[in-house]
Amino acid sequence: MYNAKITAVAHQVPEKVVTNQDLESILETSDEWIRTRTGIRQRHVAGKGVATSDLSAEAAKKALQQRGIGPEAVDCIIVATVTPDMFFPSSACLVQDKIGACNAWGFDLSGACSGFIYALATAAQFVHSGAYRTILVIGADIMTSILNEKDRNTYVLFGDGAGAVLVERTEPGEKGIIDFILRSDGSGGKYLYMPGGGSLNPATRETVDNKMHFVHQDGRAVFKYAVQGMAEVSEEILKRNNVCTSELALYVPHQANSRIIFAAAERIGLDKAKIVVNIDKFANTTAATIPIGLDEAYREKRLRKGDLVLLASFGAGFTWGSLLLRWTF
Ligand code: ACO
Repeated sequence: MYNAKITAVAHQVPEKVVTNQDLESILETSDEWIRTRTGIRQRHVAGKGVATSDLSAEAAKKALQQRGIGPEAVDCIIVATVTPDMFFPSSACLVQDKIGACNAWGFDLSGACSGFIYALATAAQFVHSGAYRTILVIGADIMTSILNEKDRNTYVLFGDGAGAVLVERTEPGEKGIIDFILRSDGSGGKYLYMPGGGSLNPATRETVDNKMHFVHQDGRAVFKYAVQGMAEVSEEILKRNNVCTSELALYVPHQANSRIIFAAAERIGLDKAKIVVNIDKFANTTAATIPIGLDEAYREKRLRKGDLVLLASFGAGFTWGSLLLRWTF
């Protein structure tokens, strides 16, 4: 048995930025409403023809470069996403081809906003068992591809982006990924979903006319469950590992709404200075928020070797989870 650790982190967002002010001209909304209700000021938006595998491949290349290894060293690629390029082939296969990871196999994982934590925990198990040594874990979404630009309830909340980490064996005696809690409750599916385009409602003129290929959400319900769920798994993982909040260097939560983040952090008694919040710049990039947050924190030197870090997420499904790790580089 081996322990697993993160050995590189990177992210990629599209160049184009859409500010809240830009949205004021296409929707009945205001910068003030969006900022005060969500913490969002702007989001990055992919251009026509740019797909999830494109952002993923760029993030992956940067992570490999940072680690100083070639794509042939990758054994497995997991892409957490709800906006794959297409149903099949998987975005993981497309990324494998785009980066030239000729020895890797891979698959997509659908865990919505919790996709990255689900994928990181999965990768850690492959390393733990000794089955694979080097795994590329990517969280990526082009949420603008499934948003109705006429729906102010959802359109203002999301952005596009990708984040990637490499997961490998720890050195003897070293700690990396320490523990995780993964949860889901399908009865919450009705609060946040995309009804069209799947086997239940295959694409027809009618499903498109009825806007079934867009995100549908009951924001208030999601808000309530998100605060509860993120706080619950954060508290539980700290307790069962005998870690108190003062020992944590950083809390990297999913970025859905700054009010959700601060409410969950307050419930576990966490100092605000330890929370990564970048929703103002990127909005909710679904599976990408946590690796983007990790990468920014690392680059801003808020994350240093030996730091204890807690990740937490909540999203469609419902899905939620937490993961405790020691930063090792
Ligand atoms: N601009 C202006 N007004 C708006 C907008 C907008 N963009 N969107 C909604 N409103 C209006 C509503 O129509 C409503 O008007 P009404 O009272 O006349 O009906 C009013 O603002 C208040 O709406 P609420 O839903 O009560 O606003 P709330 O304070 O709950 O904020 C929000 C809404 C931001 C969606 C919040 O509930 C939220 O963040 N929920 C979590 C959902 C989420 O982030 N999901 C993302 C994916 S899942 C995940 O990542 C956790």
